[in-house]
Formats: sequence, C-alpha cells, structure tokens
Amino acid sequence: MRALWPLFLFAFIAVNCMFAEEPAKEIPQQRLFLSDMDLSTAVQEWGKTQINRSIRETKLSIAGKQFDNGVGTHASFSYIVQLKKSVVNFSAWVGVDDAADSGGKSSIRFYVEVDGETLFASPIMREGDEAVRIDLNLTGKDILRLRVDDAGDGINFDHANWADAVFTYVGEKPLPGTPWVGKKVILTPKPGPKPRINGPKVFGVRPGSPFLFTIPATGNQPISFFVENLPKGLTLDSKTGRLTGKILESGTYDCMIIASNALGVVKRPFKIECGEKLALTPHMGWNSWYIWGEDVTDRIIREAADAMVASGMINYGYQYINIDDCWAIKPGSQDPTLQGQERDENGMINANSRFPDMKALADYIHSKGLKAGIYTSPGRRTCAGFVGSFGYEEEDVRRFIEWGFDFLKYDWCSYTHEITKEMNLEELKKPYRLIAEYLKEQPRDIVLNLCQYGMGEVWKWGKEFGQSWRTSGDLGLVFEKISQQIYIDGFGLDGLEQYSSPGGYNDPDYLLIGNLRNQKGQRVPTPLTPDEQYTHVTLWALLAAPLIFGGDIANMDDFTLSLLTNSELIDINQDSLCIQANCIAKQGDIQIWSKRLEDGSKAIGIFNLDNLFTKKAVLKASDLGIEGKCRIRNIWTQKDLPDLEGEMMFEINPHGCMALRVWKRE
Ligand code: GAL
Repeated sequence: MRALWPLFLFAFIAVNCMFAEEPAKEIPQQRLFLSDMDLSTAVQEWGKTQINRSIRETKLSIAGKQFDNGVGTHASFSYIVQLKKSVVNFSAWVGVDDAADSGGKSSIRFYVEVDGETLFASPIMREGDEAVRIDLNLTGKDILRLRVDDAGDGINFDHANWADAVFTYVGEKPLPGTPWVGKKVILTPKPGPKPRINGPKVFGVRPGSPFLFTIPATGNQPISFFVENLPKGLTLDSKTGRLTGKILESGTYDCMIIASNALGVVKRPFKIECGEKLALTPHMGWNSWYIWGEDVTDRIIREAADAMVASGMINYGYQYINIDDCWAIKPGSQDPTLQGQERDENGMINANSRFPDMKALADYIHSKGLKAGIYTSPGRRTCAGFVGSFGYEEEDVRRFIEWGFDFLKYDWCSYTHEITKEMNLEELKKPYRLIAEYLKEQPRDIVLNLCQYGMGEVWKWGKEFGQSWRTSGDLGLVFEKISQQIYIDGFGLDGLEQYSSPGGYNDPDYLLIGNLRNQKGQRVPTPLTPDEQYTHVTLWALLAAPLIFGGDIANMDDFTLSLLTNSELIDINQDSLCIQANCIAKQGDIQIWSKRLEDGSKAIGIFNLDNLFTKKAVLKASDLGIEGKCRIRNIWTQKDLPDLEGEMMFEINPHGCMALRVWKRE
C-alpha cells in the first residue's frame, strides 16, 4: 500500500494539469497589524508609543471593551505609512483608553489622512465614549498619516488607542514613512551688476554718540558713494560707504544716498533721526551662541566679522557681530582658560583668557565697518555659569562702553535668585530698568536686547527699556525640535503685532540655519528641511523680527547665504513702518500672513503648516483688503507673477511657503 502513493500523486497532478487553464496569478491578500510595524518614527507629545497596551501600560480598553491587539498612544500623535499603492484597506477601533482616569479631562480627535485628504475624522472623543470604527478602502493610495490631536484644549489625559488597527495589502508590504525632506533649491537671484542700495532707509542715533553706518549695496565693484544733505559732523568714505562722526544737534536729517559704478547710478532716501530712539529698524547680524556656545574665542569672533564682509552679508545690511555667553570668567571651572580673577580691584569685570583684549576686538569689528555686541546677565551668574552683573551693573556698563560695544543682550538667567519677593511685574522690570538707566547716561549708543523668555508679557513693556525682547525660550533648546519650535514661537507671535514699532521688536530668537551645534556639541547642518528654512526666514522677515543669524558664518554653503541675502525680503524686514505681520486667513493647514509696507503695498507669506502633504492655498485680494487689479511679485525669485485679480491659487510644499508682495494697480 505504501508503495502505491507516488502513483496516486502522479494521477492527481496529471488530472489537475489537464483541467487548469492558466496557472492562477492571484496574489493573496495579507494583513499587517499596526502593532507589528516599526513605530520608532511615530511622534507623540507625551510618553512612548506602546504595543498591545495603553500608554499607561495596561490592557487596551475603550468604554469597557478590551482589545488584545493595538497601539496605545498620546495626543498629539502622528505616524506616517507608505502604502505603496498595495494597501487595499485600513481598519481599527479608536477611542480614549479607560486607564486615562481623567475625571472627564480627556478629549481627542482621531484622523486618517491619505494623500493630502482627510478620509476619517472622529468626533471629539472623551473617556467612556464607545470605540469608533474605522474601515477605509485605500486602493491605489500612496501615503497615509494616522493622527490624534488634543481637540483644542491641551494634551492632558489624552490617552489615545488605535485598537485592532490593521492594513490589508496585496503585494508590497506597507512601511513606515517620514515627513517630506525636499531639496535645497536656491531661489534668490544673484545680485545684478548695477548698484542696488539695501537695508534700512532710516537710522537712529543719539546726539553726540559715535556714528557708524556702512551703506549696504550690491553691484559690480568698485561702487562709489555720495550722500546728499549729510548732517554736520558726519563724514562719508566714498569708497567703502562708511558714515562716521558725531551729530551734535538732534533733529531729522533727510539725506539721499547715491551709489554708482561703471554700469549705473542709483539713489535711495536715507533718514537720520538724531534723538533718543535707537534701532529704528530690526537689528541684523550674527550671534555666537548656537554654533560656538562655550567654545567661543576672540579668534572666532574676528573670523565672524571677516566672514560677514567676505560673504557679502554686510552689503545687505547685516552689521552686528554679537558675542553671547561665555566670554567672562567661569567660577569653579576646571578649564584653566576660563579661570582667573572675576573682577579687578575697581570691580571692573574681566574677560577670560580666550579674549585677551576686548577693546582690540571691538576695534577690529569696527574697522570692518561692523558693530560689536556683548552679553551679560542681571544675575550673579549667566545661564552657562559665567560671571554676571548683579551688584556691578554700573561698572559693567562702563566697561562695555570703554571696550567700545554697541549692543547688549541682557539675559535673565540666575536673576530669579536675587528676587526675594514674588515675581511680580515690578520685579520683572527692575533689572532692565536699572541697566537701561546706566546705558542712557553713556556717551555711546548701546542697543539693548531683553532676554527673559517672555515673562510678564514682556512685549507689553520691553520698549520702556530696550529695543527688542525675546518673546519665548530658546528656539534651539532641543536641536531636533527646532522645526516644532518655529511653529510655536514664530507663528505664536500672531496677535502680538501691536507691540512692534520702530525702535522696539518682538524677538523670537535667532535664525537657525546653516551649521549649528547639536546637543552633543558637534557642529552639524540645521535639522530644518530646506522648505522649513524658507519658512523660518520668510516668517522672521515678515514679523519685523531681528534677523540675527545663529549658524556658522565662516562656513556657509550657497543655499544658506541665499536665504540670508535676498534683498527684496530684507526690504520687507527693514521696512520703515516696522509693522509685524499677522495671520489674516486660515485654510486648513494653510496660513496667510500679511503686513502693510511704507509704500502702501502688502507683504504676504503663505505657509503650509503640514509637514507631509503639499497643500493648495487661495490668495484672495479681498483678504488683503484690496480691490481691483494688483501687481504681485514672488519675493524669493524676485519675479512678477501675472496680475492678481480676485484670487490666485498656489501649491505650497510641506512646511514650505511663498513670500509675495502686492501693489494695487492704479
Ligand atoms: C539662554 C539664552 C540663550 C543664550 C544662553 C547662554 O538663557 O536664552 O539665547 O544666550 O542663555 O547661556
């Protein structure tokens, strides 16, 4: 009997082959549970994504219904999947986990977004709500994102379950996806050969203070400069465009700058306001913190000044070279180069040995036509633990003047310890009031930046003491989160536009592009995608925020330089009205921001706040309060678009933007 089975088998195969038409090609459907996928790319605002259990590490349970399989997450949550056009279905049960134990505080919404469309949006779900079923046909689709948001009331207790979540697919297996990366595309055109005068059209100085302004201009060299109606006391170096001297009499001086080279002549009005107000347009410059931190030295600062000239940034209006923290003595440091006597016998602060001669350093910066900035704290220690100014405010101001500095960042840091009572508004103002009074007495102009992270709504009162005030914490505190922080700190300025005006600016921190220092102290490229970099610079320009580059100025690629040197974008930032843009329209993930400019035109930013899908945006002339035909210009490419009449459609890259300027046609 045993010997017969091969015969049977042969007969079976033969019969089958006789009846089979074509070999069956159908590929079987397969299932992939979300819980079996690599979830390391999931992003959530609290806790760690859990497999087959809730975020509290208990059995998944929604309104008493328990699930063996699924993923426990927390709002805000997002997870991207490459469907590879092979997924035919996604199904799941979603809801708040019973272990949230929120006392009614959980509230979340679940979304499934596919190729830019929201295919599923749950109602607002609370603890105890029955699980909601998702069952979606995904045939032919490419990219999916699972998302949970906080339903608009913060993320507390927002424990979100994707239970029995499963992809059914035929062929290629779905894989985790990542947000859009995009490419570095340079849009800023190279400057033309004819002269163009850039930067501010108005400049503030106090009577009797040393004057230094380098006229920023591009075009083929040599360019020669002339200024009509130059106030008494000032001289112009016609070759470098440097204006120096002292104006003794206060008043408004309406000058005209004329720049010429072999190919042409241009004129631009330039108003000098000699009075009490400084920084009549947002400051432009560079700061050492985000690239050098504690490694900063005299040599690095000199090289930064050299690079500001060699890169051509000076020709666009960048002028401040600012030393941040870490130039003073660091008490208790093991590093001999940071040790030494904190102050001399007269209480005057000493620099550490990495800065052998501060006066010579400031002179060097000035010799390049640039201005020098320094940093200290009203506390006993700076944020990085160096000597601060507490109790020596007057001496320190005198020292900075002696050395020849033009800018001071006054960083709160350890000052909290000096406050004995509660932190009320008067206490918050106190150190800034004090330093501002000393600065006022000096025969030299020092622009003051209040750095106290927005406490006590500093935007409402910062102007009493200084010219700019940080509105939030450090943009680059967590290197990997710079992008998220831009959306919180930068876009978060919507509503604060009334606090910006000539001589006083909301400061959402530095431009974090190019090479920066990461958490490990390595110098690496910004974590921002190219589109996010465009968004960062465009938004800051529209916000009338100080344009202070925080990356490695001595090692910039062409892309970074192109972002920093778009003359038409700088015109928007340096516009004499100093209006901060605000959000005038929202269309899903699209935000349109706008501000009025001196010549009656409008500057516009269209931003896509989604980091995965390209989105369509409609710019409506009516949103801008303009009727009839408008001239509209793409600021990054510096090219006019066809006239805007009614509305115009744009496609905006994930986390990307458009910068536009619109003029009403006569
Ligand atoms: C922070 C400040 C940063 C940087 C740093 C230096 O408080 O916000 O911009 O100056 O201190 O220690």
